[in-house]
Amino acid sequence: DLKIAVIGGGSSYTPELIEGFIKRYEELPVRDIYLMDIEEGKEKLEIVGGLAKRMVEKAGIGINIHLTLDRREAIKDADFVVTQFRVGGIDARIRDEKIPLKYDVIGQETTGPGGFAKAQRTIPVILDICRDIEELAPNAWLINFTNPSGVITETVLKHTNVKAIGLCNVPIGMVYGIAEILGVDPKRVNIDFAGLNHLVWGTHIYLDGEDVTEKLIDSFAGAKSLSMKNIPEFPWDPEFIKSLGMYPCPYHRYYYLTDKMLDEQKKEAATVGTRGEVVKKVEQELFELYKDPNLNIKPPQLEKRGGAHYSDAACSLISSIYNDKKDIHVVNVRNNGTIADLPDDVVIETNAIIDRNGAHPINIGHVPAKIRGLMQAVKAYEELTIEAGVKGNYYTALQALTIHPLVPSATVAKKILDDILEQNKEYLPQY
Ligand code: NAD
Ligand code: G6P
Ligand code: MN
Repeated sequence: DLKIAVIGGGSSYTPELIEGFIKRYEELPVRDIYLMDIEEGKEKLEIVGGLAKRMVEKAGIGINIHLTLDRREAIKDADFVVTQFRVGGIDARIRDEKIPLKYDVIGQETTGPGGFAKAQRTIPVILDICRDIEELAPNAWLINFTNPSGVITETVLKHTNVKAIGLCNVPIGMVYGIAEILGVDPKRVNIDFAGLNHLVWGTHIYLDGEDVTEKLIDSFAGAKSLSMKNIPEFPWDPEFIKSLGMYPCPYHRYYYLTDKMLDEQKKEAATVGTRGEVVKKVEQELFELYKDPNLNIKPPQLEKRGGAHYSDAACSLISSIYNDKKDIHVVNVRNNGTIADLPDDVVIETNAIIDRNGAHPINIGHVPAKIRGLMQAVKAYEELTIEAGVKGNYYTALQALTIHPLVPSATVAKKILDDILEQNKEYLPQY
């Protein structure tokens, strides 16, 4: 029987996670789920915990839902620890989005300086959580969603002894998107992914095992665009996609269409608000629904969030580890030579075979020059972001932001960094 600990249990995504465990009850004997949150999240935890309890009760299965503010109680002897927390809450996210915009730089919660700020707040907390896991559940698997997911997973793998796998819903979202373009069941579509979290390319696309990449790009490029709820859905230029010869992920728009995306962000900030401000309202609506004592399923309104389907990917991954399935998932995993153009000890996002020993990435080798440079630059930024976050080193932080492709100069990097450090003081004990 399995014990699952969910750190950040008050998340509005929790009902999807519960649904995933209910669906897999036959193959995955989860007995106890500990939903853990902090004092500030207590009210959300109680609301979402109430719904979780009604969901398992309706399903008539033997899963016990526990609500706790005691992280050690949640982690003790857990088999899987799922991390989905947000240090500083939605208000910190909104600040992350707004600071870069002041300097004409993309303001996004995971990409660019916003993601840097989120990483600096999150790194001390994830390291603390891992100390608890090392002590209280040394055999547990950490399944991380906390963004920036690749950076946080790499922090864990470099600086702790915890076994960790990072997840994101972008790859599965791209599979669904391509299936929709082709008008087929997503089960018939497979994609080879290579790159980093939120910077992943679909290098080969298969329908029933046949490589249809070229056909797809020739006939559909630019006509349809793969996107997600949280990213403006600008179509790609068909000629650009032909020249790339593969499928970019939705987040690539921030790099390949920077000017357009920046204009759009400024327009949104001045009208409906940043994505964080929009999400704050969506979340309030969701929690109003969750309070309804007659609600005992995951409400469809959760699809308004960009992270829809990610909890299901987590339950499926956990089942593959537990059942030693040896099937393929797209995960954030230690490179170990998989992409020959990156260091061994960094985390990449790619297809991997999952068994009881974890994720075994499928070899890629060298990637073409047209994607290599951007991937290496962003990875170098990520490596420095982690080093800065662990040590609280101002100079490393300044280098991280300066070399990020979306930051135009060292002058702007310094202004943004000083602003970030000032506005996040209470969450940065390492500085
Ligand atoms: P949220 O604001 O609802 O936060 C979830 C919970 O974390 C809150 O209830 C909050 O109180 C709690 N929390 C904050 N600090 C904590 C701490 N130190 N310890 C324990 N709990 C703490 O956020 P959300 O929108 O549900 O997202 C949660 C996380 O998952 C974020 O980091 C987000 O970026 C990430 N996310 C990742 C993906 C992905 O594709 N990997 C998809 C969606 C969301
Ligand atoms: C996408 C990403 C997540 C991100 C989320 C934001 O799905 O993969 O990593 O956190 O969307 O969604 P939101 O609804 O919070 O803007
Ligand atoms: Mn993601």
